[in-house]
Amino acid sequence: MYICICKGVTDSAIREAVNNGAERMRDLKSCLGVTEQCGICACHTKEVLEQARMQKTQLLSPEPKPTYLYETSA
Ligand code: FES
Repeated sequence: MYICICKGVTDSAIREAVNNGAERMRDLKSCLGVTEQCGICACHTKEVLEQARMQKTQLLSPEPKPTYLYETSA
């Protein structure tokens, strides 16, 4: 889905930029050009940025240790 019409930037491009190290709006502005013209895309860009950052954090966090409901008798 297009987020920034002026620059033709999609949500996928924003997610990819976050996965490649973009962390802030200014990073997206410099690497993709979002918000450089009319600025209408700022709100949606920020939403996608936050979602992508959360997904990245979840992917990078270690797996939780399994918890067992029943103790095994050995
Ligand atoms: S829609 Fe992004 S700058 Fe205009």
